[in-house]
Amino acid sequence: MASEPTQPHRRRPRYRGTHPRAFAEKYKELNSELYPADVEKVIARGDTPAGSHRSICVAEVLAVLAPKAGETAVDATLGHGGHAQEILRAMEGRGRLYGLDRDPLEIVRTEARLRSLGFPEEAFAARQMNFADLGELLAGEGLEGVDMVLADLGVSSMQIDNPERGFSFKSEGPLDMRMDPRTGQSAAELLLMISEARLRAIIEEYSDENEAPVIARVLTQRRGTITTTRALAQAVRDALESRQNPEEVTRKTIRRTFQALRIEVNHEFEALEKLLAALPASLNPGGRAAILCFHSGEEGRVEASFREGHRAGLYSSVAESAVRPGPEERYQNPRSSSARLWWAVRA
Ligand SMILES: C[S@@+](CC[C@H](N)C(=O)[O-])C[C@H]1O[C@@H](n2cnc3c(N)ncnc32)[C@H](O)[C@@H]1O
Repeated sequence: MASEPTQPHRRRPRYRGTHPRAFAEKYKELNSELYPADVEKVIARGDTPAGSHRSICVAEVLAVLAPKAGETAVDATLGHGGHAQEILRAMEGRGRLYGLDRDPLEIVRTEARLRSLGFPEEAFAARQMNFADLGELLAGEGLEGVDMVLADLGVSSMQIDNPERGFSFKSEGPLDMRMDPRTGQSAAELLLMISEARLRAIIEEYSDENEAPVIARVLTQRRGTITTTRALAQAVRDALESRQNPEEVTRKTIRRTFQALRIEVNHEFEALEKLLAALPASLNPGGRAAILCFHSGEEGRVEASFREGHRAGLYSSVAESAVRPGPEERYQNPRSSSARLWWAVRA
């Protein structure tokens, strides 16, 4: 007798060829719990499965945060919940972790994923919000402080790899780039309004890009036509045409231009500065903060704030230099290579 199927049969999405290429067609990776062996193969290739995120410096973050049973933690950037799940395990079901994320789409999936791993509301609370409002969260929860705060800055692989979110030049999609698509201006809307001088300053300051002047000129000349990721990438290519750069250099410049616009669209530095300002008052005595940075604009702000807090006696100790992922992790997950972990302990 045939055994009962454990899952209802679903027809796989139609795609050309033997392997799915487009994000939405990668149904096995997008349903990792149903196809663990296929997902393992993707990871073994050094790729990140569609719809998931490989957490960076997990061992290093756990060493810094040193979670203990009964403590309270804030994961300010919940993402796929990889760090959160390890912190929760280390807290042995006692204590509570608040997982924050601005992204109203991914936080729902991550909350469901962590619940399915057995973390109930008392152990893990998901909050769709900006981490800039950490102080307000604690006041609302009646907490004087927490024992750990983690922030793993930037965007997740789920956001980057989903063409509909418009974060990446690698696939065609609407030029959105908002972590919370329900509020604020998309990158396409920003390009409609922004002055050439401001755009140049953003690309220079947020991404250290030497070609900012010519890129800002071309992007403002093409105002109104840059509504997709590919149109933006092409405009940057055209701006650099006379340089005859190797493809690798051009791609770096495109990546930096995308990064600068993403930072502006999401007001990332304002949020980070507010978080850093709120941190000392949000940590219990002896509380630990860990912040994973991915570029100089983030790292400069975090390092300066931690050093200043140390001098002022708010922190008893801070990282002397950034902790970096080891060679094994950088090889296994190339997206980790720019990560720099900074930490501080509340006095
Ligand atoms: C690199 S991912 C975090 C990945 C996570 N540590 C994991 O292990 O899966 C960064 C996440 O932070 C969120 N984020 C970025 N800035 C934020 C902010 N100001 N407030 C709340 N969430 C933010 C993004 O939406 C994204 O989901």
